[in-house]
Amino acid sequence: MANSNNGETLKAIYVDNAATTAVSENALSAMLPFFRENFGNPSAIHNAGLEAKKALEAARTAVAKAIGAFSSEIYFTCGGTESDNWALRGICASKSKKGRHIISTEIEHKAVLNTLAALQEQDFQVTLLKPDGCGVIAPEALKNAIRPDTILISIMLANNVVGTIQPIERLAEIAKERQIIFHTDAVQAVGHIPIDVRKLSVDLLSLSAHNFHGPKGVGALYSKVPLVPAGYMTGGGQERGHRSGTEHVPGIVGLGAAIKEAAENMPAHTKYLVALRDRLIGEIAKIPQSRLTGHPTDRLPGHASFVFEGIEHSVYLINSLNEKGIYASSGSACSAASTDAPHVLTAMGLDTRLAHNSLRITLSADNTQDEIDRICRQISSIIPELRNRKTRKRTKEIVSSVFDNY
Ligand SMILES: Cc1ncc(COP(=O)(O)O)c(C=O)c1O
Repeated sequence: MANSNNGETLKAIYVDNAATTAVSENALSAMLPFFRENFGNPSAIHNAGLEAKKALEAARTAVAKAIGAFSSEIYFTCGGTESDNWALRGICASKSKKGRHIISTEIEHKAVLNTLAALQEQDFQVTLLKPDGCGVIAPEALKNAIRPDTILISIMLANNVVGTIQPIERLAEIAKERQIIFHTDAVQAVGHIPIDVRKLSVDLLSLSAHNFHGPKGVGALYSKVPLVPAGYMTGGGQERGHRSGTEHVPGIVGLGAAIKEAAENMPAHTKYLVALRDRLIGEIAKIPQSRLTGHPTDRLPGHASFVFEGIEHSVYLINSLNEKGIYASSGSACSAASTDAPHVLTAMGLDTRLAHNSLRITLSADNTQDEIDRICRQISSIIPELRNRKTRKRTKEIVSSVFDNY
């Protein structure tokens, strides 16, 4: 990736890995044969079809192994959004006779929040739990929210905006004691932290390949509870009758290769990323009136997020970094282009003004210490410039209002 600025070509630094990651060499070379050489339809019974079917099932086994599930509990989808939709809508459809109350949190991704809003229109009731200042959901708050008609609890494993990791094992335990189905959106966590669905006691889990160096548009839903029979996507009956449509074989193969690779590299990558992340956090802490958001230690290995006082809006910071060849974001890929304050930060108690001034730097193992140092230098010089620009703008406004009134 290169960045051309005033005729000078700089090597760009990509640090927006929570938005998406580059497909790994391994995943790409695993996928390629399934576009042209082995392009068979996995439902066909000739050898070309059987080859594709074999690859599909090998990917299912790889996904299951990476999260401690059985292959029979893995369903392929077109990504995290679909997995979240399927989990929430599916459970509500099958359990609506038992009750219509769902518990989730204010800091979920829009794939969950907007699905819950749609379910509310169908007369489901939703309680959204508030996190503490570090973005953690207290088990006590969950206990207090449970009602006799609660049928589903959905709490994300790790947050996309601030990187906080939830105490899912304890939260899911509470659901289990009350025999309530527990779903977790693990899109940011899978491939980055160890996950064992049996140990965590979760009933459903969503994941997405493009968040751990697999391709975009492919994901999976783990479900150990029976899914609504044949009702989700009707047609030819693929995915054991649950999700019709010819499978995206190259993508699914890429998902399988990427999840296997991520699991193998996890110990080494975690150590490397935590060191880079903490170096970055330490340097940014030296900037006056800057603040780390999210939990100081219970956070994703490559995730650093901040807010800065007095910079007017993070879009100016993101643009200035972009001009220097540094690709970061303000917090959420879905809301980066909008002027809404990230809902996660306001839910954590930050005022709306400060929540607009957020920066998210999410690393991959491709990033280097030199890159971190270049990022820190640039941020340290851009922030005072933006603050000055604001002061100059205010002074200009005051002067012109004085003249207007003269
Ligand atoms: C926490 C979380 N959930 C869901 C999604 C949506 O996943 P996808 O982009 O695969 O639809 C994302 C996207 O990054 C996410 O961060």
